[in-house]
Amino acid sequence: MRKPIIAGNWKMNNTMADTKALLTDLIPLVADANAECVVCVPYTNIYAAGELIKGTNIKLGAENVHWADKGAFTGEISAEMLLELGVEYVIIGHSERRQFFGETDETVNKRTLTSLAKGLKPIVCVGESLEERQSGAYTAILEAQTEKALVGVDKTDLCNVVIAYEPIWAIGTGVTATNQEANDTIAIIRNKVASLYCRDCADNVLRIQYGGSMNPKNVADLMAMPEIDGGLIGGASLKAEDFSKVVKY
Ligand code: 13P
Repeated sequence: MRKPIIAGNWKMNNTMADTKALLTDLIPLVADANAECVVCVPYTNIYAAGELIKGTNIKLGAENVHWADKGAFTGEISAEMLLELGVEYVIIGHSERRQFFGETDETVNKRTLTSLAKGLKPIVCVGESLEERQSGAYTAILEAQTEKALVGVDKTDLCNVVIAYEPIWAIGTGVTATNQEANDTIAIIRNKVASLYCRDCADNVLRIQYGGSMNPKNVADLMAMPEIDGGLIGGASLKAEDFSKVVKY
């Protein structure tokens, strides 16, 4: 069984005061959730968030990680630094990083390999642009992103990998992929993983989330689709009540 995982991606939002208020409200609201609940927060909030959610069922996540152990990489954060603060999950290769910060399939792969080697669970993002969707090129693009992200990843590590399918045209736009579109596209990604590893691991251990304007209103229908194992939530993760409704779809 693939346990659903709903992760909030706060992006560059929430001061320390906002973090305290949001998590204090969220903790009781999701205490009886069946899905795994994760909050991926800005670096500056990780310590405070970790203290607040100690002893609760909420897991801590970061929004990026560097591949090197340490050294002259101004502005970067290592896996060890994250682990020290209780971080369990880390988002890698979000389309905003690919689009605005020069993230490539190669750096996504390096970050993924380091995360797994150090004991962090990567949430690896893949997704196509509107143009790539409309031209039909998206299948090949998603297959290539998936394959390149996983180069060198051992089959035994697939249980610690989460893939997030986030169509760029659905992020922050209010336009969601239809349930069928999201399901069928995730099936393409899962089939690719099956061809790279084995059918059994793709079907039984690898969780693939949908992300892009997921909210309290559309979550139940998306989660009813057989291929969708959870969500990566932007806007709707910034309000405790909305996020708790998504987590408890
Ligand atoms: P929205 O939920 O705001 O569309 O953002 C999705 C996303 O990018 C999550 O990583």
